[in-house]
Amino acid sequence: MSTLGKPANIFWHECAVGRHERQKLLQQKGCVVWITGLSGSGKSTLACSVGRQLHNRGNLSYVLDGDNLRHGLNKDLGFKAEDRAENIRRVGEVAKLFADAGLICIASLISPYRRDRDACRALLPDHFIEVFMNMPLEVCEQRDSKGLYKLAREGKIKGFTGIDDPYEPPLNCEIEIRQMDGVCPAPSIMAGQVVTYLEDKGFLHE
Ligand SMILES: Nc1ncnc2c1ncn2[C@@H]1O[C@H](COP(=O)(O)OP(=O)(O)O)[C@@H](O)[C@H]1O
Ligand SMILES: [Mg+2]
Repeated sequence: MSTLGKPANIFWHECAVGRHERQKLLQQKGCVVWITGLSGSGKSTLACSVGRQLHNRGNLSYVLDGDNLRHGLNKDLGFKAEDRAENIRRVGEVAKLFADAGLICIASLISPYRRDRDACRALLPDHFIEVFMNMPLEVCEQRDSKGLYKLAREGKIKGFTGIDDPYEPPLNCEIEIRQMDGVCPAPSIMAGQVVTYLEDKGFLHE
């Protein structure tokens, strides 16, 4: 775990160019789109689709995908509760930097615990858009694109979210993606829902 609290004898150095100037340059407002949901719910798919749609309309974005970050920044962390908390804390801090850089930062990770997500939201009040991939466990498990549910059911993976570790759904998310008439919307439709929200809230212009 990282050390908590205020570091002693370390001072903040203010840089000449600030967030507002960067946002003016980019013609958009930095923010974090935080996609949470079960494994296999479509978080990475949505993140990439949102990134593509934003790019096509001239907005600069960057995807922080949980699985990808575990290859580098977070490769020292596992899946026990405190490692998950540290994983989320780091991604929250990095996402905050990207938003400060003026980008639309899209973070896609299971982030199963409400407390950890809320801590990230607290880093960026008014610039944190929580997207809940509200897909039934049965749908995710049937997809099982990574074969992990099978391993979890066989007891070969312990502490798997949705099987033997809890997923705490958001209570006040900005966007909820769910099935319609028992069918999951196509990725471009889900992404459109997010992009429309960003447009309506004024994040895509300066
Ligand atoms: N809107 C969708 N409709 C149908 N299948 C989807 C949709 N979104 C994702 N999928 C499929 O579900 C599987 C899991 O998606 P993925 O984005 O990897 O989930 P996660 O990142 O949440 O684990 C993939 O095989 C993907 O192609
Ligand atoms: Mg993924």
